[in-house]
Amino acid sequence: MARVMIGDVCEIVIERGLSADLLPERSGREQVVVITQAPVRDHAERVVEAIGDGSIIEVPDRDRAKTWDVVRDIYDELAERNVGRGDTLLGVGGGAVTDLTGFVAATWLRGIESVLVPTTLLGAVDAAIGGKTGINHAGKNLVGAFWHPSRVHVDLDVLDALDERLKLEGTAEIVKAGFIADPRILGEYRARGAAAHLDVVVPAAIAVKAEVVSSDFREGGRRAILNFGHTIGHGVEAVTGMPHGFAVSIGMVAAGAISAVRFGFDSAAMTELLFGLGLPVAAAGTSRQAVLEKVARDKKRTSDGIRMVLLRSVGDVEVTPVTADELDVGLAAIGI
Ligand SMILES: NC(=O)c1ccc[n+]([C@@H]2O[C@H](COP(=O)([O-])OP(=O)(O)OC[C@H]3O[C@@H](n4cnc5c(N)ncnc54)[C@H](O)[C@@H]3O)[C@@H](O)[C@H]2O)c1
Ligand SMILES: [Zn+2]
Repeated sequence: MARVMIGDVCEIVIERGLSADLLPERSGREQVVVITQAPVRDHAERVVEAIGDGSIIEVPDRDRAKTWDVVRDIYDELAERNVGRGDTLLGVGGGAVTDLTGFVAATWLRGIESVLVPTTLLGAVDAAIGGKTGINHAGKNLVGAFWHPSRVHVDLDVLDALDERLKLEGTAEIVKAGFIADPRILGEYRARGAAAHLDVVVPAAIAVKAEVVSSDFREGGRRAILNFGHTIGHGVEAVTGMPHGFAVSIGMVAAGAISAVRFGFDSAAMTELLFGLGLPVAAAGTSRQAVLEKVARDKKRTSDGIRMVLLRSVGDVEVTPVTADELDVGLAAIGI
Protein backbone atom coordinates (compact mmCIF):
# COMPACT_ATOMS: atom_id res chain seq x y z
CA MET A 1 0.00 0.00 0.00
CA ALA A 2 1.20 3.51 -0.77
CA ARG A 3 -0.01 6.83 0.59
CA VAL A 4 0.55 10.21 -1.01
CA MET A 5 -0.58 13.53 0.49
CA ILE A 6 -1.50 16.78 -1.20
CA GLY A 7 -0.74 19.35 1.45
CA ASP A 8 -2.81 18.34 4.42
CA VAL A 9 -6.10 18.37 2.52
CA CYS A 10 -6.08 15.21 0.43
CA GLU A 11 -4.86 11.72 1.17
CA ILE A 12 -4.36 9.38 -1.77
CA VAL A 13 -4.39 5.69 -0.89
CA ILE A 14 -3.10 3.24 -3.49
CA GLU A 15 -3.66 -0.44 -2.79
CA ARG A 16 -5.08 -3.67 -4.15
CA GLY A 17 -8.71 -4.30 -3.31
CA LEU A 18 -11.07 -2.17 -1.30
CA SER A 19 -10.20 -1.45 2.29
CA ALA A 20 -13.03 -0.88 4.72
CA ASP A 21 -11.67 2.56 5.64
CA LEU A 22 -12.45 4.21 2.34
CA LEU A 23 -13.78 7.26 4.11
CA PRO A 24 -11.73 9.59 6.27
CA GLU A 25 -12.79 9.20 9.86
CA ARG A 26 -14.67 12.18 11.24
CA SER A 27 -17.82 12.99 13.09
CA GLY A 28 -20.93 14.59 11.66
CA ARG A 29 -21.28 12.42 8.57
CA GLU A 30 -24.82 11.12 8.33
CA GLN A 31 -24.95 9.89 4.78
CA VAL A 32 -22.84 9.09 1.76
CA VAL A 33 -24.17 9.62 -1.75
CA VAL A 34 -22.35 7.67 -4.44
CA ILE A 35 -22.23 8.96 -8.01
CA THR A 36 -21.36 6.48 -10.73
CA GLN A 37 -21.94 5.37 -14.34
CA ALA A 38 -23.36 2.13 -15.74
CA PRO A 39 -20.08 0.38 -16.75
CA VAL A 40 -18.81 0.61 -13.15
CA ARG A 41 -22.09 0.32 -11.26
CA ASP A 42 -21.03 -3.11 -9.91
CA HIS A 43 -17.91 -1.57 -8.50
CA ALA A 44 -19.90 1.25 -6.92
CA GLU A 45 -22.05 -1.39 -5.25
CA ARG A 46 -18.94 -3.07 -3.86
CA VAL A 47 -17.81 0.30 -2.53
CA VAL A 48 -21.16 0.80 -0.79
CA GLU A 49 -20.80 -2.68 0.69
CA ALA A 50 -17.27 -1.96 1.89
CA ILE A 51 -18.29 1.23 3.70
CA GLY A 52 -21.58 -0.26 4.87
CA ASP A 53 -23.54 2.82 3.82
CA GLY A 54 -24.46 4.87 0.78
CA SER A 55 -27.13 5.39 -1.82
CA ILE A 56 -26.22 5.36 -5.51
CA ILE A 57 -27.05 7.92 -8.19
CA GLU A 58 -26.26 6.65 -11.67
CA VAL A 59 -25.56 9.36 -14.26
CA PRO A 60 -25.22 9.10 -18.08
CA ASP A 61 -21.93 7.66 -19.29
CA ARG A 62 -18.74 9.49 -20.24
CA ASP A 63 -18.84 13.29 -20.69
CA ARG A 64 -22.62 13.16 -21.12
CA ALA A 65 -22.53 13.33 -17.32
CA LYS A 66 -20.64 16.63 -17.26
CA THR A 67 -23.65 18.83 -18.07
CA TRP A 68 -25.89 21.32 -16.25
CA ASP A 69 -28.85 18.97 -16.66
CA VAL A 70 -27.09 16.22 -14.76
CA VAL A 71 -25.80 18.66 -12.13
CA ARG A 72 -29.33 19.98 -11.63
CA ASP A 73 -30.73 16.45 -11.29
CA ILE A 74 -28.14 15.65 -8.64
CA TYR A 75 -28.86 18.90 -6.73
CA ASP A 76 -32.55 17.87 -6.72
CA GLU A 77 -31.63 14.46 -5.31
CA LEU A 78 -29.38 15.99 -2.66
CA ALA A 79 -32.15 18.36 -1.61
CA GLU A 80 -34.61 15.49 -1.44
CA ARG A 81 -32.24 13.43 0.68
CA ASN A 82 -31.44 16.38 2.89
CA VAL A 83 -27.71 16.06 2.27
CA GLY A 84 -26.01 18.38 4.73
CA ARG A 85 -22.66 20.02 5.40
CA GLY A 86 -21.35 16.97 7.21
CA ASP A 87 -22.21 14.48 4.47
CA THR A 88 -20.06 13.04 1.72
CA LEU A 89 -20.27 12.69 -2.05
CA LEU A 90 -18.34 9.71 -3.32
CA GLY A 91 -17.52 9.38 -7.03
CA VAL A 92 -16.83 5.94 -8.48
CA GLY A 93 -15.76 5.96 -12.12
CA GLY A 94 -13.45 7.50 -14.68
CA GLY A 95 -12.47 11.13 -14.99
CA ALA A 96 -15.94 12.17 -16.10
CA VAL A 97 -17.45 10.92 -12.83
CA THR A 98 -14.70 12.34 -10.65
CA ASP A 99 -14.88 15.78 -12.38
CA LEU A 100 -18.66 15.85 -11.95
CA THR A 101 -18.63 14.59 -8.36
CA GLY A 102 -16.01 17.13 -7.40
CA PHE A 103 -17.95 19.96 -9.04
CA VAL A 104 -21.20 19.07 -7.30
CA ALA A 105 -19.37 18.68 -3.98
CA ALA A 106 -17.66 22.07 -4.47
CA THR A 107 -20.95 23.86 -5.06
CA TRP A 108 -23.55 22.09 -2.89
CA LEU A 109 -23.99 24.14 0.31
CA ARG A 110 -20.83 26.03 -0.78
CA GLY A 111 -18.79 22.88 -0.47
CA ILE A 112 -19.13 19.45 1.12
CA GLU A 113 -16.66 16.60 1.39
CA SER A 114 -15.87 14.54 -1.70
CA VAL A 115 -14.12 11.19 -1.85
CA LEU A 116 -13.05 9.76 -5.19
CA VAL A 117 -12.59 6.17 -6.33
CA PRO A 118 -11.15 6.48 -9.85
CA THR A 119 -11.61 3.38 -11.98
CA THR A 120 -9.65 4.32 -15.10
CA LEU A 121 -5.91 4.77 -15.32
CA LEU A 122 -6.38 8.35 -16.52
CA GLY A 123 -8.70 9.03 -13.63
CA ALA A 124 -6.30 7.55 -11.11
CA VAL A 125 -3.14 9.35 -12.17
CA ASP A 126 -4.65 12.57 -13.46
CA ALA A 127 -8.33 13.55 -13.22
CA ALA A 128 -8.89 12.57 -9.58
CA ILE A 129 -5.63 14.15 -8.43
CA GLY A 130 -5.16 17.87 -7.99
CA GLY A 131 -8.53 19.35 -7.15
CA LYS A 132 -9.67 20.52 -10.56
CA THR A 133 -13.35 19.82 -11.01
CA GLY A 134 -15.70 20.82 -13.76
CA ILE A 135 -18.37 20.36 -16.35
CA ASN A 136 -18.60 21.26 -20.01
CA HIS A 137 -20.37 24.47 -21.03
CA ALA A 138 -19.76 26.13 -24.39
CA GLY A 139 -16.55 24.10 -24.48
CA LYS A 140 -14.76 21.43 -22.49
CA ASN A 141 -14.27 22.06 -18.76
CA LEU A 142 -15.08 25.77 -19.05
CA VAL A 143 -17.07 25.79 -15.80
CA GLY A 144 -15.53 24.43 -12.64
CA ALA A 145 -13.92 24.98 -9.30
CA PHE A 146 -10.82 23.97 -7.41
CA TRP A 147 -12.03 21.56 -4.76
CA HIS A 148 -9.85 18.84 -3.33
CA PRO A 149 -11.33 15.50 -2.39
CA SER A 150 -10.46 14.57 1.16
CA ARG A 151 -9.48 11.10 0.01
CA VAL A 152 -8.74 9.34 -3.26
CA HIS A 153 -8.78 5.58 -3.21
CA VAL A 154 -6.94 3.85 -6.07
CA ASP A 155 -7.49 0.11 -6.44
CA LEU A 156 -4.74 -1.33 -8.65
CA ASP A 157 -6.71 -4.57 -9.19
CA VAL A 158 -9.41 -2.54 -10.95
CA LEU A 159 -6.82 -0.76 -13.09
CA ASP A 160 -5.06 -4.03 -14.01
CA ALA A 161 -8.40 -5.40 -15.24
CA LEU A 162 -9.03 -2.52 -17.66
CA ASP A 163 -9.17 -3.34 -21.36
CA GLU A 164 -6.09 -2.50 -23.42
CA ARG A 165 -7.49 0.68 -24.88
CA LEU A 166 -8.51 2.33 -21.62
CA LYS A 167 -5.17 1.30 -20.18
CA LEU A 168 -3.26 2.80 -23.10
CA GLU A 169 -5.15 6.11 -22.83
CA GLY A 170 -3.96 6.52 -19.26
CA THR A 171 -0.45 5.33 -20.06
CA ALA A 172 0.32 8.52 -21.98
CA GLU A 173 -0.19 10.66 -18.85
CA ILE A 174 1.99 8.32 -16.80
CA VAL A 175 4.79 8.50 -19.38
CA LYS A 176 4.37 12.29 -19.32
CA ALA A 177 4.92 12.28 -15.56
CA GLY A 178 8.08 10.27 -16.21
CA PHE A 179 9.48 12.76 -18.70
CA ILE A 180 8.77 15.86 -16.64
CA ALA A 181 9.86 14.49 -13.28
CA ASP A 182 10.61 10.81 -12.70
CA PRO A 183 12.99 8.73 -14.84
CA ARG A 184 12.07 5.60 -12.82
CA ILE A 185 8.74 5.55 -14.63
CA LEU A 186 10.53 5.57 -17.98
CA GLY A 187 12.89 2.81 -16.81
CA GLU A 188 9.95 0.57 -15.90
CA TYR A 189 8.30 1.10 -19.31
CA ARG A 190 11.60 0.57 -21.13
CA ALA A 191 12.18 -2.67 -19.24
CA ARG A 192 8.70 -4.17 -19.48
CA GLY A 193 6.87 -2.27 -22.22
CA ALA A 194 3.11 -2.30 -21.91
CA ALA A 195 3.42 -4.94 -19.17
CA ALA A 196 4.97 -2.37 -16.81
CA HIS A 197 3.90 -3.00 -13.25
CA LEU A 198 1.17 -0.63 -12.18
CA ASP A 199 2.45 -0.99 -8.61
CA VAL A 200 5.54 0.89 -9.78
CA VAL A 201 4.27 3.43 -12.29
CA VAL A 202 0.91 4.45 -10.77
CA PRO A 203 2.18 5.57 -7.33
CA ALA A 204 5.14 7.28 -9.04
CA ALA A 205 2.91 9.19 -11.47
CA ILE A 206 0.52 10.17 -8.67
CA ALA A 207 3.47 11.37 -6.59
CA VAL A 208 4.64 13.57 -9.46
CA LYS A 209 1.25 15.22 -9.87
CA ALA A 210 0.72 15.53 -6.12
CA GLU A 211 4.10 17.17 -5.63
CA VAL A 212 3.56 19.67 -8.44
CA VAL A 213 0.03 20.50 -7.26
CA SER A 214 1.14 20.86 -3.64
CA SER A 215 3.70 23.43 -4.70
CA ASP A 216 1.18 25.35 -6.79
CA PHE A 217 -2.31 24.94 -5.43
CA ARG A 218 -4.25 27.18 -7.76
CA GLU A 219 -2.27 26.89 -10.94
CA GLY A 220 -0.16 30.01 -10.91
CA GLY A 221 3.14 28.73 -12.20
CA ARG A 222 4.78 25.37 -11.69
CA ARG A 223 1.60 23.44 -12.33
CA ALA A 224 1.99 24.40 -15.97
CA ILE A 225 4.66 21.71 -16.40
CA LEU A 226 1.86 19.14 -16.23
CA ASN A 227 0.82 20.49 -19.62
CA PHE A 228 3.77 18.87 -21.35
CA GLY A 229 2.37 17.47 -24.61
CA HIS A 230 -0.92 19.28 -24.13
CA THR A 231 -0.54 22.44 -26.23
CA ILE A 232 -0.37 20.79 -29.64
CA GLY A 233 -2.03 17.69 -28.13
CA HIS A 234 -5.21 19.63 -27.33
CA GLY A 235 -5.22 21.00 -30.87
CA VAL A 236 -4.98 17.50 -32.32
CA GLU A 237 -7.62 16.22 -29.89
CA ALA A 238 -10.08 18.98 -30.77
CA VAL A 239 -9.61 18.58 -34.52
CA THR A 240 -9.61 14.77 -34.71
CA GLY A 241 -11.78 13.86 -31.72
CA MET A 242 -9.27 11.18 -30.73
CA PRO A 243 -9.02 10.17 -27.04
CA HIS A 244 -7.16 12.61 -24.82
CA GLY A 245 -4.31 10.23 -23.95
CA PHE A 246 -3.57 9.48 -27.59
CA ALA A 247 -3.51 13.18 -28.44
CA VAL A 248 -1.16 13.82 -25.51
CA SER A 249 1.22 11.16 -26.85
CA ILE A 250 1.27 12.92 -30.22
CA GLY A 251 1.63 16.29 -28.48
CA MET A 252 4.65 15.01 -26.56
CA VAL A 253 6.31 13.96 -29.82
CA ALA A 254 5.76 17.49 -31.17
CA ALA A 255 7.03 19.15 -27.98
CA GLY A 256 9.94 16.70 -27.91
CA ALA A 257 10.97 17.69 -31.43
CA ILE A 258 10.94 21.38 -30.53
CA SER A 259 12.92 20.56 -27.37
CA ALA A 260 15.46 18.73 -29.52
CA VAL A 261 16.02 21.76 -31.73
CA ARG A 262 16.10 24.24 -28.83
CA PHE A 263 17.97 22.23 -26.20
CA GLY A 264 19.35 19.09 -27.82
CA PHE A 265 16.80 16.90 -26.00
CA ASP A 266 16.86 13.23 -27.12
CA SER A 267 13.44 13.24 -28.75
CA ALA A 268 14.11 10.09 -30.80
CA ALA A 269 14.31 8.00 -27.63
CA MET A 270 11.04 9.50 -26.42
CA THR A 271 9.21 8.77 -29.67
CA GLU A 272 10.61 5.24 -29.68
CA LEU A 273 9.32 4.61 -26.14
CA LEU A 274 5.82 5.92 -26.94
CA PHE A 275 5.68 3.97 -30.20
CA GLY A 276 6.88 0.82 -28.48
CA LEU A 277 4.03 1.09 -25.98
CA GLY A 278 1.52 1.21 -28.83
CA LEU A 279 0.74 4.90 -28.45
CA PRO A 280 0.24 7.04 -31.57
CA VAL A 281 3.18 9.30 -32.46
CA ALA A 282 1.82 11.10 -35.53
CA ALA A 283 -1.39 12.64 -36.79
CA ALA A 284 -0.77 12.65 -40.54
CA GLY A 285 -3.77 13.80 -42.52
CA THR A 286 -4.97 16.21 -39.82
CA SER A 287 -5.58 19.78 -40.99
CA ARG A 288 -2.58 21.88 -40.06
CA GLN A 289 -4.58 25.09 -40.22
CA ALA A 290 -7.28 23.72 -37.91
CA VAL A 291 -4.71 22.57 -35.33
CA LEU A 292 -2.92 25.93 -35.42
CA GLU A 293 -6.20 27.81 -34.99
CA LYS A 294 -7.14 25.67 -32.02
CA VAL A 295 -3.72 26.15 -30.40
CA ALA A 296 -3.98 29.93 -30.89
CA ARG A 297 -7.53 30.04 -29.47
CA ASP A 298 -6.53 28.04 -26.38
CA LYS A 299 -3.69 30.41 -25.71
CA LYS A 300 -5.84 33.52 -25.98
CA ARG A 301 -7.76 32.22 -23.00
CA THR A 302 -4.75 31.57 -20.83
CA SER A 303 -1.95 33.97 -21.69
CA ASP A 304 -0.47 36.01 -24.48
CA GLY A 305 1.60 34.28 -27.11
CA ILE A 306 1.98 30.56 -27.49
CA ARG A 307 3.87 29.04 -24.60
CA MET A 308 4.88 25.43 -24.46
CA VAL A 309 6.42 23.07 -21.97
CA LEU A 310 9.79 21.94 -23.32
CA LEU A 311 12.40 19.55 -21.96
CA ARG A 312 16.10 20.24 -21.70
CA SER A 313 16.43 16.64 -20.55
CA VAL A 314 14.30 14.19 -18.59
CA GLY A 315 13.07 16.01 -15.48
CA ASP A 316 14.46 19.38 -16.56
CA VAL A 317 11.50 21.38 -17.77
CA GLU A 318 11.14 24.85 -19.23
CA VAL A 319 7.87 26.68 -19.88
CA THR A 320 8.63 29.10 -22.64
CA PRO A 321 7.18 31.03 -25.58
CA VAL A 322 7.74 29.27 -28.91
CA THR A 323 8.23 30.85 -32.31
CA ALA A 324 6.21 30.09 -35.44
CA ASP A 325 9.27 28.32 -36.85
CA GLU A 326 9.47 26.11 -33.78
CA LEU A 327 5.77 25.29 -34.04
CA ASP A 328 6.48 24.24 -37.63
CA VAL A 329 9.16 21.85 -36.38
CA GLY A 330 6.73 20.33 -33.90
CA LEU A 331 3.96 19.88 -36.44
CA ALA A 332 6.34 18.42 -39.01
CA ALA A 333 7.49 15.85 -36.43
CA ILE A 334 3.94 14.53 -36.18
CA GLY A 335 3.33 14.51 -39.92
CA ILE A 336 1.11 17.57 -40.04
N1 LIG B 1 -9.80 17.23 -13.42
C1 LIG B 1 -8.70 16.99 -14.09
O1 LIG B 1 -7.61 17.42 -13.73
C2 LIG B 1 -8.78 16.13 -15.32
C3 LIG B 1 -7.62 15.66 -15.91
C4 LIG B 1 -7.72 14.83 -17.01
C5 LIG B 1 -8.97 14.50 -17.50
N2 LIG B 1 -10.09 14.98 -16.91
C6 LIG B 1 -11.43 14.62 -17.41
O2 LIG B 1 -11.57 13.20 -17.31
C7 LIG B 1 -12.50 12.75 -18.30
C8 LIG B 1 -11.91 11.55 -19.01
O3 LIG B 1 -11.67 10.54 -18.07
P1 LIG B 1 -11.53 9.00 -18.50
O4 LIG B 1 -10.49 8.89 -19.54
O5 LIG B 1 -11.40 8.23 -17.26
O6 LIG B 1 -12.88 8.72 -19.28
P2 LIG B 1 -14.38 8.46 -18.77
O7 LIG B 1 -14.57 8.87 -17.39
O8 LIG B 1 -15.26 9.04 -19.82
O9 LIG B 1 -14.47 6.87 -18.85
C9 LIG B 1 -14.33 6.22 -20.10
C10 LIG B 1 -15.26 4.99 -20.16
O10 LIG B 1 -14.76 3.95 -19.32
C11 LIG B 1 -15.79 3.50 -18.44
N3 LIG B 1 -15.11 2.95 -17.27
C12 LIG B 1 -14.63 3.61 -16.20
N4 LIG B 1 -13.99 2.76 -15.38
C13 LIG B 1 -14.08 1.53 -15.95
C14 LIG B 1 -13.64 0.23 -15.58
N5 LIG B 1 -12.94 0.03 -14.45
N6 LIG B 1 -13.93 -0.80 -16.39
C15 LIG B 1 -14.62 -0.60 -17.54
N7 LIG B 1 -15.06 0.59 -17.95
C16 LIG B 1 -14.79 1.64 -17.16
C17 LIG B 1 -16.62 4.72 -18.23
O11 LIG B 1 -17.89 4.41 -17.71
C18 LIG B 1 -16.67 5.27 -19.66
O12 LIG B 1 -17.56 4.54 -20.44
C19 LIG B 1 -12.79 13.94 -19.21
O13 LIG B 1 -14.04 14.48 -18.89
C20 LIG B 1 -11.68 14.92 -18.85
O14 LIG B 1 -12.07 16.27 -19.05
C21 LIG B 1 -10.02 15.78 -15.83
ZN1 LIG C 1 -4.03 15.37 -19.89
